[in-house]
This record gives sequence, structure tokens and C-alpha cells, in this order.
Amino acid sequence: MKNAVVVVGTQWGDEGKGKITNYFSNKADVVVRYQGGDNAGHTIKFLGNTYALHVIPSGVFNPNIKNVLGNGVVLNPKTFLSEIEALQKQGFSCNNLYISDRAHVIFDYHKELDGLIEEHLATRKIGTTKKGIGPCYTDKIARCGIRVADFVSSDFEEIYKTTLKVKNDQIISYGGNPFDIEESYQEYQKIAEAIKPYVTDTIALLNEEIKKGKKILFEGAQGALLDIDFGTYPFVTSSNPSGGGVSIGSGVGPTNIKEIIGIAKVYSTRVGSGAFPTEFEDEVASYIRETAHEYGTTTKRPRRIGWLDGVVLKYSSQINGLTGLSLMLLDILSGIKNLKVCTSYMLDGKEISTIPARISDFEKCIPVYTTLPGWQEDISSCKSYDELPQNAKNYVSFIEKLVGVPVVMISVGPDVLQTIVRKTIL
Ligand code: GDP
Ligand code: IMO
Ligand code: MG
Repeated sequence: MKNAVVVVGTQWGDEGKGKITNYFSNKADVVVRYQGGDNAGHTIKFLGNTYALHVIPSGVFNPNIKNVLGNGVVLNPKTFLSEIEALQKQGFSCNNLYISDRAHVIFDYHKELDGLIEEHLATRKIGTTKKGIGPCYTDKIARCGIRVADFVSSDFEEIYKTTLKVKNDQIISYGGNPFDIEESYQEYQKIAEAIKPYVTDTIALLNEEIKKGKKILFEGAQGALLDIDFGTYPFVTSSNPSGGGVSIGSGVGPTNIKEIIGIAKVYSTRVGSGAFPTEFEDEVASYIRETAHEYGTTTKRPRRIGWLDGVVLKYSSQINGLTGLSLMLLDILSGIKNLKVCTSYMLDGKEISTIPARISDFEKCIPVYTTLPGWQEDISSCKSYDELPQNAKNYVSFIEKLVGVPVVMISVGPDVLQTIVRKTIL
């Protein structure tokens, strides 16, 4: 029986994946991150407390759930350990974490290179989180990365020292300061010891859990438009957040997946550079930014604000194979008189409803909007769809028809309890 559910971002990240993963996690046996690293920032709110997770899966709060960092993840061991320390101080044991022996390790030299490459790109900079994500995945593909299994092995000294010598040359070529090889090795050697107890063959673990009929929840990071293949290249991240990335990043075959739930904000945000057709900057955008506190969980940068983009959502539905949509932050739109939804673009005088491959074309796209009337009521305590004001229902059903995917959940506040469920998923 298929038992796996996937939570994916449908836009440019920060859609509320952490909240929904945590909501589902009460019913899951295993929560898995399958790509990305600590560039992610997932906010979770329950029992009056707010938690921000970067690399640890959002099921960590429940000691009965296994939380897995799959082979597709890039692991910064320093961030991982400091996140554990912070969670332990807040009373969570963190005895339920498993790291794939095949995941790649982010070292300080990756972070250094991330910053230096960005500086070199000057006006074409990506606006990365500077967590070393791109340089680490670059090494993975170039076959010169260091995997967790090697990090915790007795060969680490030799592998690390030869690798850092090459990396130091790269750093120097970009005008940066090289690392002291011995000092850096000594530091990481101690960190490797601390990481060792978490390392396991997660491919075997996950497939064993599946055989036992356990429920697996995959937690995407970033979003479809930041996908290295499908996103607004080159202004993307270096992994595959979309549905196709699940199997590659976990070792769980696609035939095990039952549902793929797309998480979508009811407006759009983007942090970092790159085209964003529905972006606007006026008092309504400022109102949204301040009311929803649209500032990066990881980098604290103000997020760019845009109207909902139906072209993006339709595209996301296709590339992810969405079976349901979870609409987020509907409460934030209360009090806005008119709500615009982009239904197509005009590109060089032609109407299109696809995402062009070239970023220069995407930059030229002018949104075609449908305007819907807003609502005034505070909806943050609505518990059912029927309680929503008529215009809020109309907005939801407009999106549902436009995208062609059933809206299975509606989020009306950051707390896990502020969730309207229209279909039970897990
Ligand atoms: P993620 O990266 O996809 O997990 O999303 P983030 O946590 O980076 O950003 C989503 C933000 O919206 C967080 O601050 C959440 O607490 C908040 N949030 C999620 N759902 C809702 C909602 O329905 N209403 C409001 N007001 N805030 C929400
Ligand atoms: P979550 O999981 C929003 C963006 C960065 C930058 C681009 C590349 O919280 O949704 P990277 O450091 O990955 O090389 O940066 O991707 N980005 C995110 N934007 N949410 C995220 O994660 C992001 N992770 C990366 O801002 O534009
Ligand atoms: Mg986030």
C-alpha cells in the first residue's frame, strides 16, 4: 500500500511548508528532508511557542517519529549540532534523528566560496543565503565532495586535507583568505565524532519502514520556482525541491508516493534576486509584509511581495504532479479591498500561460490579472470552510478552478491549530 505523502513548496519558498509538515507529523511515523540544507527556514508554532528549523525535519518535536536527513540533503554539521543544542535546551531530546551516510557535507570552505562567487557575480548575483549550498552541490556533481560516510571514517584526515588544498587554491583565485589546513581538520575531526551517532544507511531504514506499512512524510525545502531544473534559472537553488526530487534524495521509489501536497501562499513572496512578474511595492505590499512578518527566517532579509501568480501555480502543479493544494496565510488578506490574481502573461504582445525558459523573457512578462473583491472580517479563528466569509470562499474556489487541483487545506494563522481541513490526507 502507498503510504508516503510529500509536502512541496509551489512558489519561491517560505510558503509555510514547516507549519503543514508539523501539522501532518502527528500522524506520520517518519519525516524526511530530501534536498537542500540550512538555506531553509521552516517556522512552526504550537502551544504558544515558535520554533525555526533550518536543517532538522519538522517532525523533531514528536519523540515517536523518526526524522531523517536523506542522501539528497547537504549537511552543515555545525548548524545541525547547534540546532540540536537549542532544541535540547527547550526540552526536546533529539534522540529521533538519522543522517544519511550518503549526504554531502557543507564545510566552511563552501560557505566562503558562496560569498566570494556572489561578490564576483556583482550585478548578476543570485542573492543566495551564503550557506555554501551551491558550492557543496557543485562538488557533489563534480565528484569531489565529501560524503557523511567519509566524514565519520578513519580516512577523513587524508580526504579532507587533500580536498582543502584544492579549495584553498580556489579561494585564493577569488581573492579570499585560505584556511589553515591542520587547524580546520582538527576542528572538523571533533565535529565528526559528534555527528557519528546520527549516521545511518537511511535508504535501508526508509525502505524497511515502508515494508512495515509505516507512514512516511517528505518535507520539501525551497519551492518549485527555485528548482535547479524547473525554476527561474540561474536565480534558483542548487537542488530539486519539486516532487521528482523525493526519490532521488531519499532512495524511496516513486511508486510509494500516495499524495503530493503543494503548499501555496495566497499571495507571492520571493527573497533573493530574479524575475518576479507579479511583484508590487505600495502600501498594500507593505501592509502584507508587516502583517505577515515577511522577513527571511534564515537571512532576515525583507521578502519581496507579489500578487498570487496562477501561471506559477499551474506550472507547479504539472512539474510536481500535485494531488492537493494547501492554501496558506489567507488571514493576511483580510481588510484588503481588491485582490489581484495573475491568470496569464503578455510576452512581446502575445498572451502565454507557461513559464519561459530564458530569464530575460520571464523578466519581460506582464501579468494579466483578474480582480476579486476582498473581505473585511478577521478569519484567524475560523475552524471550518463554511465559517469563511463568502468573498474568501470565492477567492479559494477561484484558485482551485484556475489551478485545477483540489484545495485540501486552508491555513488562517501560523499556529498549527489555525488550519481548516477539507480532506484528511494522512
Ligand atoms: P517555510 O519555509 O515554507 O516553512 O515557510 P516559513 O516558515 O519560512 O514562512 C512562512 C511564515 O508564515 C512563517 O512565519 C509562518 O509562521 C507563517 N505562517 C504559516 N501559515 C500561516 C498562516 O496561515 N497565517 C499567518 N498569518 N502566518 C502563517
Ligand atoms: P525554505 O525552505 C526562500 C533562495 C535564496 C536565493 C536562492 C539561492 O525556507 O522555503 P541558496 O542559498 O539556496 O543557494 O540561494 O534561493 N532560497 C530560499 N528562498 N526560502 C527558502 O527555503 C530558500 N532557500 C534558498 O534566497 O534566492
Ligand atoms: Mg522558509
